[in-house]
Amino acid sequence: MPVSIVIGSQWGDEGKGKIVDLLSPDVDIVARYQGGANAGHTIVWDEEGETEEFVLHLVPSGIFHEGVTCVIGNGVVLDPKAILEEIEKIKSLGVDVEGRLKISHNAHLIMPYHKAIEAAQEEERASADDDDEIGTTGRGIGPAYTDKFARTGIRVVDLLDEDVLRRKLRRSIEEKNAILRDVYDAEALDVDRIVEEYVEFDHKIDDYVTDTSAYLSRALDDGARVLAEGAQGSLLDVDFGSYPYVTSSHPTAGGCCTGLGVSPTEIDRVLGIAKAYCTRVGNGPFPTELDGEVGEDLREKGDEFGATTGRPRRCGWLDLVALRYTCMVNGFSELALTKLDVLSGTDELKVCTQYRYDDKVTRRFPSEPQNLTRVEPQYETLPGWEADISGVRHVEDLPREARDYLAFVENYLDVEIGLVSNGPRRSQIITDVQPMAAA
Ligand code: GDP
Ligand code: IMO
Ligand code: MG
Repeated sequence: MPVSIVIGSQWGDEGKGKIVDLLSPDVDIVARYQGGANAGHTIVWDEEGETEEFVLHLVPSGIFHEGVTCVIGNGVVLDPKAILEEIEKIKSLGVDVEGRLKISHNAHLIMPYHKAIEAAQEEERASADDDDEIGTTGRGIGPAYTDKFARTGIRVVDLLDEDVLRRKLRRSIEEKNAILRDVYDAEALDVDRIVEEYVEFDHKIDDYVTDTSAYLSRALDDGARVLAEGAQGSLLDVDFGSYPYVTSSHPTAGGCCTGLGVSPTEIDRVLGIAKAYCTRVGNGPFPTELDGEVGEDLREKGDEFGATTGRPRRCGWLDLVALRYTCMVNGFSELALTKLDVLSGTDELKVCTQYRYDDKVTRRFPSEPQNLTRVEPQYETLPGWEADISGVRHVEDLPREARDYLAFVENYLDVEIGLVSNGPRRSQIITDVQPMAAA
């Protein structure tokens, strides 16, 4: 069966971009199904001895493979300015984008008032007594999805009809200006300037716009293989994450069907991407977070700074209770474990296998933040390894302790690890991981 999904299994930044790029040569289409320019998916490759890095925010991570068509599905919230800038940047590398990128006519647009309202909301939350700001990326994601579900959003298709666009935009901006002024005491936006700016986007984006669900359906009928690319991570899912410290979409497996318009019966592989430890950007509970030296060490060795906002990522030990929960929600058929190289040189590795709360020890993950902030992680300690493993290409060449670490994770979760990533570059991948039991 033809559709595989790549899903972040933690709090995002697990290395989805690298894995999607790696799997792209085996497929015909790579399709993003949710989120927006809050995502930052990094691809690193070698170019004549030099290492090149590119961070994608909206364009699917298959774009650097000629012959792969990239789709931005209806479930994505599209910032027209951001996508046009990203397209230009990709073209400047000599990569052909025209004819290879398709944008859903039903995707909702991010408008300047979404970012303004988000900034005002975050400011208000930060100054409240309980200081409960979410720590968003500031890309207007929450307010754009709010409008979508309130049925007041403006979609890509609206860009294509100037009269409709002018009418909808005026009404929307006037309403949002009232909210900005009266509720948040913030500055109102210039209606005419925004209308003219968005009318312009029509000419620039028109060639990419199509009914992507119909396109995917035809392609699948013709035998195409599709890789669906999730953004963010399962623990940031608006239903299954630590609400309200989540994003406003569904990174989990179900989001693929509604965000692309493909049937669940077409999906045969659900690949979860997990870091060998944990990171989180923004606020919200993080049971295995390490505040001291060990956490700093992970941040430094793993270069854990946000690909979109540059914020330092919070770091902590691998949380198997949380990972077991996202395995359950997504039904991962296998896992890719990334950044194993970052654990080299640490004497002892801790892995959280249970939570203690209310005097009970449990393997249940409570997604309610009031409980999740109270849990005390219970750890098992595994021996670390000294050797630099970033050059290893075969599982049998990993130190015994590293193989034991993989086997421990696999046994706990009862899900196979199919890929191990041991460096940011395309070539730094171990594909012969199975069968772990024999390793
Ligand atoms: P994404 O959002 O899931 O695509 O992940 P990001 O690109 O935001 O963050 C992952 C970071 O780790 C990027 O800087 C990658 O280049 C890097 N990376 C990916 N896999 C590995 C790996 O196995 N080892 C190391 N050291 N870095 C990696
Ligand atoms: P990728 O695809 C990590 C986090 C933000 C914040 C919360 C809500 O690169 O893994 P939002 O702007 O979405 O309303 O912010 O979600 N967040 C991410 N964290 N990786 C991401 O994307 C993220 N996208 C959003 O930091 O905590
Ligand atoms: Mg990222």
